[in-house]
Amino acid sequence: MTADRPNLSIDGLMGELMALAQISEAEPPVVTRVVFGEADMRARAYVKGLCAEAGLIVREDAVGNTFARWEGSDPTLAPIGTGSHIDAIPNAGLYDGCVGVLGGLEAIRVLKKLGFKPRRSIELVIFTAEEPTRFGIGCLGSRMMASVLTPKQALALRDKEGRGLEEWRAQAGFTGPLESVAVPNGRFHQFVELHIEQGPYLEQEGLDVGLVTHIAAPASQRIVIEGEGGHAGGKLMPGRKDALAAAAELILALESAAKSTGAIDTVGTVGICDVFPGAVNSVPSRVVITTDVRDIDGARRDRVLDALARAADEVSARRGVKITTELINADPPTTCDAAILAALEESAIAAGKTYKRMVARAYHDSSFVSCIAPVAMLFIPCRGGVSHRPDEYASPEWIGSGVHVLSCTLARLAE
Ligand code: HGY
Ligand code: MN
Ligand code: MN
Repeated sequence: MTADRPNLSIDGLMGELMALAQISEAEPPVVTRVVFGEADMRARAYVKGLCAEAGLIVREDAVGNTFARWEGSDPTLAPIGTGSHIDAIPNAGLYDGCVGVLGGLEAIRVLKKLGFKPRRSIELVIFTAEEPTRFGIGCLGSRMMASVLTPKQALALRDKEGRGLEEWRAQAGFTGPLESVAVPNGRFHQFVELHIEQGPYLEQEGLDVGLVTHIAAPASQRIVIEGEGGHAGGKLMPGRKDALAAAAELILALESAAKSTGAIDTVGTVGICDVFPGAVNSVPSRVVITTDVRDIDGARRDRVLDALARAADEVSARRGVKITTELINADPPTTCDAAILAALEESAIAAGKTYKRMVARAYHDSSFVSCIAPVAMLFIPCRGGVSHRPDEYASPEWIGSGVHVLSCTLARLAE
């Protein structure tokens, strides 16, 4: 396999990653790039330009999922897919998602340089809105491709200012019917996503890459707590219906439920807490919190959601506050495909890379692509396991190993 020993200089790729990182709503090195915002659109244009320069055929669907295709010798065959996302949450780093997009492009360029001729076409995908920042749900583009999110559900999505998907995507120039986003089963023959681990284990164990066997099952909820407001001085403590104090009990109940499953794979987080009226001398009358609960075991995750629901009932009755819970998503865990994992393992060995099989604790677009094609993920280490922070870092060596193994794997799958 000529591709097993590509002469990999990834200086160009590192420069592109740094250039992409400069396209941010925040002051670099902080990366913030929320879907359909001005920075996201500039970033899309930058990456599409690189794909066109590489001779790929670029097209976008009605929500901006972007496909850059290297036509194979038999275009009638379902393609091999790779890719990830370039949107970034507020105050993020430059590697989450982008390593999978620009690293996937580099893997294709390496194969082209080696004179490899794919039988199956290879498609690089940039998924729209992997992050939940704008519309509150993650993997918007891949969910819609997999029909996990219907056009009707997508049309109901609103951002914090009440602006809907229709308004945002029209402004971004994506106008086709939402029904056209859904793709048939088998749209890809196989799909491999390169991503930073967003955890500490590969670095701790000194390994080059991780072969992902399972992707954790994410669930998120929006919980509204309504109490009684009032003057922080005049409203005496007996009989108060303080919405934030009630929310605090729920947050601690979630933490306790996640810790007490007996499994290290269960995690629970409240990342957003909006307080109304939000004045230092006013008793909070309304609080909105969002929960994020994950586990690689879906039933165990759901037991945490059940425990939180019981806590909400108890707090509501004892404090006299109204608690309304809206489930945003509760997705199953993903099992990655054995044949793709075997190709990844063969490639890692042939490339002389150390590796281990492992689970993914973050969710990824591959979770939803798995509904329409066999998938697997390839992880590279990230320093200290840090992600979703500006100090997120992956070394050129780590990125080079990931691209090397990915290029060998794409060649194996496409030939
Ligand atoms: O939250 C996640 O797991 C992903 O990074 N969006
Ligand atoms: Mn992320
Ligand atoms: Mn990501």
